[in-house]
Amino acid sequence: MRNRMIAGNWKMNETYTEGVVLAQGLAKELADGTGDVDVVVCPPAVDLKGVAEVIEQENAPFALGAQNVYWEESGAFTGETAPNMLTNIGATYCIIGHSERRGYFGETDEDINKKAKALMAHGIVPISCCGEPLEVREAGKHVEFVVDQIKKDTEGLEITDPSKFVVAYEPIWAIGTGKTATADDAQEVCGAIRKTLADIFGKETADGIRVLYGGSAKPNNVAGFLEKEDVDGALVGGASLKADSFAAMVKAAM
Ligand code: G3P
Repeated sequence: MRNRMIAGNWKMNETYTEGVVLAQGLAKELADGTGDVDVVVCPPAVDLKGVAEVIEQENAPFALGAQNVYWEESGAFTGETAPNMLTNIGATYCIIGHSERRGYFGETDEDINKKAKALMAHGIVPISCCGEPLEVREAGKHVEFVVDQIKKDTEGLEITDPSKFVVAYEPIWAIGTGKTATADDAQEVCGAIRKTLADIFGKETADGIRVLYGGSAKPNNVAGFLEKEDVDGALVGGASLKADSFAAMVKAAM
């Protein structure tokens, strides 16, 4: 089967010093460990080294993830970060395909597919995001919308170890709004995601891939999502910026 995962996406928050303090606070909150739950912290790029040092110094029970990557190895790509730069700094996960990068920065499914391949070539686990805008949900086309994203984002991937690829379903209309999908909404789409993964990679592989829910996930609602068969955890934004709140979500998953 598959371990649950609680991942924190700090987004464009926490200066270097603030990030170190937040990571230290989380290490303290999780000092007794996280059981079988995999915990990932994804700070902004400037905070990666500082958080990596906290993880090492505190022997913290969480992994380091990035929020973005470029698919080239090196070169004239101003402002971008290459996969080997992430491995060099100790990152073992990377969020790709977040709706904010698709929306604000024009990232396409083709871009996301290239990023997934580059990350996996470097042994970094993609946390590949998908999710529909409100108008698609209101039109009742959300399942086919997300299935189309999954097919394009995973095109040509070779997944030999299902623990090395993670999907996060984040309905755009629930991100940062306080309006969460219901647990049944999440199960409907996460179940369709898992079926699509099975069609592509086979049932055994699909059954080992974590499918997370994201979109106003909080300590007071995460348990409801975790009860669902095809929801294996959460990708958390706002609630990951407070060590006690994020730790409470981890403990709810244990
Ligand atoms: O990547 C997680 C994020 O999009 C969810 O944000 O603040 O709704 O938990 P939030």
